[in-house]
Amino acid sequence: MKKINIAIDGFSSCGKSTIAKGLAKELGYTYIDSGAMYRAVSLFALQNGWMNNAEINEAALKQHISGIKISFRTNEFGQQETYLNGQNVEHLIRTLEVANGASRVSTLGFVRKELVRQQQEMGKEKGVVMDGRDIGTVVFPDAEFKIFLTASPEVRAQRRFDEMKAKGENPSYEDVLANVKERDHRDSNRTESPLRKADDALELDNSHLTIDEQLQWALNKFNKITQQNE
Ligand code: DC
Repeated sequence: MKKINIAIDGFSSCGKSTIAKGLAKELGYTYIDSGAMYRAVSLFALQNGWMNNAEINEAALKQHISGIKISFRTNEFGQQETYLNGQNVEHLIRTLEVANGASRVSTLGFVRKELVRQQQEMGKEKGVVMDGRDIGTVVFPDAEFKIFLTASPEVRAQRRFDEMKAKGENPSYEDVLANVKERDHRDSNRTESPLRKADDALELDNSHLTIDEQLQWALNKFNKITQQNE
């Protein structure tokens, strides 16, 4: 069957990667976590001392941006891991500090331009499920199947809170909720490619759906779309 590209966009902690990984596994497609790429750039800027709580040294980051090579490899447990210039950074990019930095570097036009270029290259042969904020609008505007996922900030904060607890962290729910809202605000109000639903994306509010229910919904839509395209 002819492969297509699948674009999944939505706010942070909406379950995008869960549905994207589920689809990729069921369909034998490649999953690409575009957020991990912004996180890798954030880590790169932090490691080089080009970003602190107050400011970003944009000139230095801009000068080195084309030297940042991000790739993904599957580990022995079948999980995908992010590599930055050949180094496995999967664990390093999952901290709150790097996430907050990612939300800041992702507002810079030259960062987006380079990452979008790398993402489009990865989707050239089709058969990709990519999740992020601008996949259906900018990266793959021609994707055959686009999903825009939503869930209330409270539901998303609770999911993040539970994940952090499971990892042995001890966050306060109020702090997690405030962080979710702050990132929502930044993602939707930045000038460069703000988060918005593509006109032809199918919207799914998964606040009250199980993981399995949302995957079934997506597989049904996928089947309809690919049958129409044949
Ligand atoms: O999905 P995530 O939390 O891993 O994303 C990290 C940050 O990167 C988040 O603040 C939004 C930003 N991002 C983006 O601007 N465009 C994308 N395609 C993916 C993520």
